[in-house]
Amino acid sequence: MDNPSWDSENEAVKRALESSYCPEPIRQAREKQDWILSERLRHGPYKIADIGCGNGYHAVMFSPSSLLYHGFEILPAIAETARALWQKESITNAQVFVGDAAEVELEDEFYDIVLCLYFTPGNFRDKSDDLSLYSDAYLDRNPRFIRIASRFYKAMKSGGSMFLTL
Ligand SMILES: C[S@@+](CC[C@H](N)C(=O)[O-])C[C@H]1O[C@@H](n2cnc3c(N)ncnc32)[C@H](O)[C@@H]1O
Repeated sequence: MDNPSWDSENEAVKRALESSYCPEPIRQAREKQDWILSERLRHGPYKIADIGCGNGYHAVMFSPSSLLYHGFEILPAIAETARALWQKESITNAQVFVGDAAEVELEDEFYDIVLCLYFTPGNFRDKSDDLSLYSDAYLDRNPRFIRIASRFYKAMKSGGSMFLTL
């Protein structure tokens, strides 16, 4: 999965995930997202899939209520930051799968909870790298998003829940 153009993307994603860099309205949206999720996922134990898991902090946040946590991350260097965080926090039930979530092989009816947080659905690109094209209004026409959402929907148990931050 080596790709030189990912070096700059790695840096951009890392900066976006640092709260000190985050613009105030986005920081507030993220806090609200995390507050709602921590209320909704208080019980468990859950098998959790996190599409575009970034630095994996949701594995730490939900560790009290998770049986297992599977992160899916396209950028290898970002996946490494998740592994490092889990090691530091002694999280032993989390794994990260590196690659495009649109291509991953999943077991049917496996997860209780599927997460795709912090505006990640708008990051799934089909034909252009211009992120401004990926508005919420484009989501239901974006074949990449449709493929990812359908695959993970199939991988979710009946009665499971999928949470997307848009
Ligand atoms: C906005 S960040 C959110 C990270 C994390 N979920 C959070 O809440 O902090 C989006 C993440 O999705 C990853 N990503 C983008 N497209 C992806 C794809 N097709 N498959 C897997 N991961 C992807 C990016 O590399 C990035 O780490």
